[in-house]
Amino acid sequence: MSSIHVAILGASGYTGSELIRLIDGHPRFRLVHLAAHSHAGRQAGDVLPGLHEKLAGMRLSHIDDPLPENCMLVFAALPHGAAANTVARVLDAGCRVIDLSADFRHQSPETYQQAYGIEHPYPQLLRAAVYGLTEWSRERLPEARLVANPGCYPTSMLLPLLPLIRAGVLDETSIIVDAKSGASGAGRGAKTELLFCEINEACRAYGLPRHRHSWEMEEWLEHFGGHAVRVRFVPHILPMNRGMLTTLHLSGRNTASWRHILEEQYANEPFVRLLPDGRLPSTASVAGSNRCDIGLSTLGADECVIVSCIDNLLKGAAGQAVQNANVMFGLDETTGLPELPSWP
Ligand SMILES: NC(=O)c1ccc[n+]([C@@H]2O[C@H](COP(=O)([O-])OP(=O)(O)OC[C@H]3O[C@@H](n4cnc5c(N)ncnc54)[C@H](OP(=O)(O)O)[C@@H]3O)[C@@H](O)[C@H]2O)c1
Repeated sequence: MSSIHVAILGASGYTGSELIRLIDGHPRFRLVHLAAHSHAGRQAGDVLPGLHEKLAGMRLSHIDDPLPENCMLVFAALPHGAAANTVARVLDAGCRVIDLSADFRHQSPETYQQAYGIEHPYPQLLRAAVYGLTEWSRERLPEARLVANPGCYPTSMLLPLLPLIRAGVLDETSIIVDAKSGASGAGRGAKTELLFCEINEACRAYGLPRHRHSWEMEEWLEHFGGHAVRVRFVPHILPMNRGMLTTLHLSGRNTASWRHILEEQYANEPFVRLLPDGRLPSTASVAGSNRCDIGLSTLGADECVIVSCIDNLLKGAAGQAVQNANVMFGLDETTGLPELPSWP
């Protein structure tokens, strides 16, 4: 069977390097092009640790360089704001794109502007993009030319919440999302607040009063779940490399039925696992895996705490992007994706 040739733009970053690892082990995708911004012109092996000889010798092109003619799919792993122009150019060149940034995650330019404080340069492309929360978007992916890969925080809260919103059992005015991320969630760029001494032995909230992912959470809860909601979302940064733990403080009715609702929704999903009663997930159980683990603890007939864990770089970014790419190209959705974590 012939290979599907793919490019990674933003290969020198954290999600870009995770994409390299996944695609290198993928039986049908073949890496034909790597591109970077400030690291353009250097060899991949000089910028990224641990690559084998063949990958290490690949030259990092510039983001704006032309793509090879045989390229069929581009993963854009660039900062929001910078991604939109590149994505538009790649679509013009006839390639399909999975954009890991937030630039195409909203359906209206107004919402994008509210969340990111900048005018969207290609509002006409927003409606054409498919929001790639794979478990909820599968039917639209085979035809998609542009997939907006969801944010890591939204992925970790949408997966457990959507079945409950759709079932109409949640109090939609009282959704508290308390989430913690490892430092790789902020990317590889140098920032004072991410220096070792700032992060180590510390935990802090950030992004208040309203983190930009709040808009994404509310938009897609309403889109897939059918009910308008307001979330109170507080993100925190933890002194670990990767991993995301999201605690949802929820109220509603008939909480005894919530486990069954989630079980029914995700029974056949390869990358969503509902833990048995009495067990709660840990970031260590999903590190290096494309899985989302979910645990429930009922506090009475009308209150429940749900905890979900993902690896922000896998199910929260590169893993979900490859999952989406598999569906786009008619492959088994699990191809090339780790289910088991690298543990301990
Ligand atoms: N990290 C996560 O857990 C995570 C999860 C979900 C989504 N995302 C999203 O995925 C995207 C990539 O994230 P990341 O964590 O991989 O970021 P990163 O580690 O900071 O890497 C960013 C990449 O973009 C390039 N770049 C930087 N500034 C640029 C510019 N002005 N124009 C064009 N390219 C530029 C960098 O190239 P040089 O290194 O050569 O400068 C690098 O290859 C972001 O939009 C992020 O929000 C990240």
